[in-house]
This record gives sequence, structure tokens and C-alpha cells, in this order.
Amino acid sequence: MSNVYVQLNTGAKIPQIGFGTMQAASGVEIAVKNGYRHLDLAPIYQNQKEIGGTLKKLFDSGIVKREDLFLTSKLWNNSHRPEDVPRALEATLSDLGVTYLDLYLVHWPAACARGKALVPEDESRPGYVELDTEVTLVETWKAMIALPKEKVRAIGVSNFTIEHIKGITEATGVIPAANEIEAHPLLPQDELVQYCNEQKIRIIAYASFGNNSINRPLLIENDVVKEVAKKLGITEGQVLLAWGTYRGYCVIPRSVNESRIISNFKHVKLSKEDYERVSSICEEKPVRFNIPYCDALKWDISIFDGPEEKGATHSVKIQ
Ligand SMILES: NC(=O)c1ccc[n+]([C@@H]2O[C@H](COP(=O)([O-])OP(=O)(O)OC[C@H]3O[C@@H](n4cnc5c(N)ncnc54)[C@H](OP(=O)(O)O)[C@@H]3O)[C@@H](O)[C@H]2O)c1
Repeated sequence: MSNVYVQLNTGAKIPQIGFGTMQAASGVEIAVKNGYRHLDLAPIYQNQKEIGGTLKKLFDSGIVKREDLFLTSKLWNNSHRPEDVPRALEATLSDLGVTYLDLYLVHWPAACARGKALVPEDESRPGYVELDTEVTLVETWKAMIALPKEKVRAIGVSNFTIEHIKGITEATGVIPAANEIEAHPLLPQDELVQYCNEQKIRIIAYASFGNNSINRPLLIENDVVKEVAKKLGITEGQVLLAWGTYRGYCVIPRSVNESRIISNFKHVKLSKEDYERVSSICEEKPVRFNIPYCDALKWDISIFDGPEEKGATHSVKIQ
């Protein structure tokens, strides 16, 4: 199986199917050995050092060269202050054992207290994350822009809305190369996707299979997805990933299971009819799984301006 590449607005090529590494460090070696060349990483997954060890093994044994991989990592929320951005990048490069990233994203448009835990609990407000409500997205984005090009080939964002993207681009004139967002048939995000396409911002979609964090079965279990998979003689996973690639996205499935890692990497093209059949499962109200305000340790901030975030007392500070 081979990669299909799409382009970033920098001209760089990015494999359309990447491998998501959250809770899946053990899958990285299998993924690369089976053809994946795009890895989605982040310090919050707390496995970059382990993955760095795997990469060294893969490089030393000649299975893959650094230049053949597309590595994305992210700036975590506790490092949004401009003076912290270069240091956070260095820590990620050191953990991964590489000299550059292909893409570096601002993980969330929300900051937490610097220099503490990755997700520090507010001592004066148990159950809540201690936020940094001073630093703005524009300040962080300017620090991203200032990172040396030889260490970061492209910069982008993640979980940003149209308003957030407009805020940082209008202030700096620099358009992100990518926006990594939750997107699946229950959350198609048509407006955001259209805006990003117009701005040549590549969408990287996460949670292609939905997410069972709110006690809902994975989309793999959906009857329509099953029906299309059966009709085409492919897996449910392939149907959902093909739904994403049909829309021009990159997708970054995660698995720790060898046969699923391999089958997820097979590029399948859906017909318009099958794409529309899968799209039809979207409910009247889109279903978003990943909302920090709903985390066990609450982020008291409205990021998406969604109904679930109505009780939040902070909003994103763009500038
Ligand atoms: N930027 C962000 O804020 C953000 C947020 C969340 C995730 N991400 C990235 O996106 C990646 C993927 O998203 P995700 O981790 O939320 O979940 P996902 O890839 O949508 O789903 C992963 C789940 O699906 C199962 N699975 C994988 N392939 C399958 C198949 N073919 N059939 C049946 N089940 C299958 C996995 O179990 P098995 O391991 O048992 O196969 C796992 O439980 C993450 O790893 C991370 O890199 C980014």
C-alpha cells in the first residue's frame, strides 16, 4: 500500500492518511513498517520520548529515513507565552530525537498556567484547570511565526474556529498551513471546512471513528456505516476514513491493533452516492465529543461557542 499526498499552502506534500499516536505509541513501529509516513504527535500524549526511541530504531535499521516522514507535533496549552514557545519546541525535538518538525500546531486556542503540570488544577477552584487568561492567540501565533524555519517547516493550528483563524491571520498576515479539528459524519463542520479550503488551510481530521468518551458507541457500530462497508466489501474503518478523504482532508486514525493499523491505511475512494449515504447519518444537532469544558478536570472556557459550553465564564482571548 502506498501513500496518497496532498499539498500544504507552503508547497510541502503531506500524506493524506497519517497515524494518530495518542495512547498508541506501540502502534508506531507497525504503522511505519506498513507504509504510514505521517505521524500525528503531541506532548500531551506523554509518549514522545517513547516514540523517539522507536524512530531511532526505524532510522538506524534503515526502514525509513527522516526525510521520508512527515512529523506533526503541537504546542501544548501550558506554553502559550511567547517566551515559552521556542523552549517547548526544543523539548519536543529532543524527545523525538529529530532536528525538525514538518508541521507544528498550536494544539488549542486556550492556555493554562505556565511552568506547572500539563493540566494544572486550580488550587482555589478544585475540579477546574488553572487557566492563563492573559496571553492572547495573536501573541502565541507571532511566537510560532518567529520559530526558525530549519526547525519547523510549517506552522498551523488545531481546534481553531473561523473567528480564531481570522483573528490571528488579520493581525499577522500569516495563514496557518493546517487546522487539525474533530470531524466525522456526526460533526461535518461544513462551514469551517469551506472557509479553510478557501484560505488553503489543510484540514487534518481527528476522531474519524467518533469517540467513546461520552458513552456512545464508536461510529464503526453505526448501521449505515456497516451497510456501506458490507456493500463495498471493505471495513467500517475504511468507510469512515474514505468519507474524510473524499472531502479532501487528511485523516489520522489511531489503533494499537496490527490488522486495524494495516486496514486503516488502505486508500478507498467512495462514490458520490456512498459518500452521501454516510453523510446522511449526521443528526439535526451535530455531535462534538472533544469539548474541554466537559473534561473531568474542567477548562472553564468556551472554545466552540457550543450549547454544552454555555456555563463557561471565559472566552478565547484572540488579541
Ligand atoms: N488535535 C487534537 O486536539 C486531537 C484530539 C484528539 C485526537 N487527536 C489525534 O487524532 C488521532 C485519532 O483520533 P482519536 O484518537 O480520537 O480516535 P480515532 O482514531 O477516531 O479512534 C480510535 C479508536 O478506534 C479504534 N479503531 C481504530 N481503527 C479501527 C477499526 N478499523 N475498526 C474498529 N475500531 C477501530 C481504536 O481501537 P484499537 O486501538 O483497539 O484499534 C480506538 O479505540 C489521535 O491519536 C491524535 O493523534 C488530536
